[in-house]
Amino acid sequence: MNNDQAARLRTLAQGQRPEAPLFAARVLAITSGKGGVGKTNVVAGLALSLAQLGERVVVMDADFGLANLDILLGLSPQFTLEHVLRGEKVLEEILLDGPMGIRIIPASSGIQELTRLDTMSELRLIQGLQRVAETADWLLIDTAAGIHDSVLKLLMAAQEVILVTTPEPTSLVDAYAMVKILHLREASKPLWLLVNNGQNPDEAQETVDQLQAATERFLGKRLNVLGLIPNDPHILQAVRQQRGVVDLYPRCPATLAFQALARQLLSRVSLQPDGFASFWRQLASEDPI
Ligand SMILES: Nc1ncnc2c1ncn2[C@@H]1O[C@H](COP(=O)(O)OP(=O)(O)OP(=O)(O)O)[C@@H](O)[C@H]1O
Ligand SMILES: [Mg+2]
Repeated sequence: MNNDQAARLRTLAQGQRPEAPLFAARVLAITSGKGGVGKTNVVAGLALSLAQLGERVVVMDADFGLANLDILLGLSPQFTLEHVLRGEKVLEEILLDGPMGIRIIPASSGIQELTRLDTMSELRLIQGLQRVAETADWLLIDTAAGIHDSVLKLLMAAQEVILVTTPEPTSLVDAYAMVKILHLREASKPLWLLVNNGQNPDEAQETVDQLQAATERFLGKRLNVLGLIPNDPHILQAVRQQRGVVDLYPRCPATLAFQALARQLLSRVSLQPDGFASFWRQLASEDPI
């Protein structure tokens, strides 16, 4: 328990209303319409930048892609969420320790099962998540690209969603399709737009303007703009070395951009009471997606 939580417990004990609930956290899912736009790199970049700001970050790797987060960070998981669901491991046993104190839940192979669990597996996961939540401020979820049921379920359960696109027209069209689907399911879900891999700020800004114009015109919705990550060859070099770019190249343009975005998140995303648990309740609910 940290000092903050201890102070809040004391307040509770004195019968006063605490300012923020115990174990409040922020649960963000990172997604895209088209694959290969940089989601996994964005998750790693934001996680490490938040960690640099003193935040305790857990990343759930729910991506089926080849370049999984664990590979990206040079980690090799022996066990995954599947083992937890089968009752062979508890959540803490599968957590991977990443750079700068971030922790990773390797979940990709178990993610399809998440939406149809029996009561025992569900209980195991809820209890595990609640224990992990006691020592975390953020849960970032790296999703697979595209509009699959299990991905949508994760997105709907998360508190807020970061939608990654590149300036490429195909990526932009698929990003719009994703905004539309999320909007039709839950118009009030906070949606952040992140433009990755732009050649220059003008190109990235044009991407924001085009998507914003389409969503305003056809959906009556304005997106929150999180910001831009420039095209930066350091990202590929870091991938090749299986290191986080923020860790390996502390002053490169991509790192500086990730740090600026992490500061934005910290100031603009509010704490969710009972963060991880309410994420889980949503995910496990019987509601149709
Ligand atoms: N800002 C950038 N500058 C240069 N290269 C980048 C940038 N962002 C991503 N890349 C490169 O793009 C490729 C795809 O990135 P990444 O694996 O993060 O995408 P993804 O959206 O997670 O893919 P998938 O949909 O398969 O999960 C990687 O080779 C990465 O190095
Ligand atoms: Mg990926």
